[in-house]
Amino acid sequence: MLMQIENPLIESIYSFPILEIFHITGYAFAIGTVALIDFRILGFGLRKQAPAQLMQDLNLWTVWSLAVAVMSGMLLYSTDPDKYYENWAFLLKLPCLIAAIVFHFTIFRKLVLKDAGTGVAKALACVSLALWASVVFGGTFIGI
Ligand code: HEM
Repeated sequence: MLMQIENPLIESIYSFPILEIFHITGYAFAIGTVALIDFRILGFGLRKQAPAQLMQDLNLWTVWSLAVAVMSGMLLYSTDPDKYYENWAFLLKLPCLIAAIVFHFTIFRKLVLKDAGTGVAKALACVSLALWASVVFGGTFIGI
């Protein structure tokens, strides 16, 4: 017989809102740092710094805030897995998130660090913005 383990997170009414605070803060920083680089490539924002320099300066912020967003997201998920794993928005969000993370730390990073100011870099900056926006879209519609 399988032993049922109670999730301590569902015992307090404060866990979910506190986790949501970490979740929203984490992804706001993660996507905020990525968007700063995307807009810089598109010619907006921090124009005194080269995109490659910005990428290097912001990298640890992106990595740590992404870790906070993902960890708190998994804990939010654990509060009611039966509700979320059937939720269309959640099922859309996860592959978009994986695509956004892989894209950011492979193609995008490689190209930005090469300081490519070309049309290709601008196109990839748009792809980056679209991928992260799709994650937020998915997340926003989970609770609806
Ligand atoms: C950078 C990555 C992520 C972003 C940008 C993101 C974005 C969002 C957004 C916009 C919301 C809605 C917040 C609100 O209530 O206003 C949300 C909620 C949520 N996210 Fe994420 N998320 C991320 C990663 C994850 C991960 C990895 C998981 C789980 C494996 C996850 C699970 C959830 C759950 C369960 C909710 C709560 C939905 C509800 O209100 O019931 N998230 N997320």
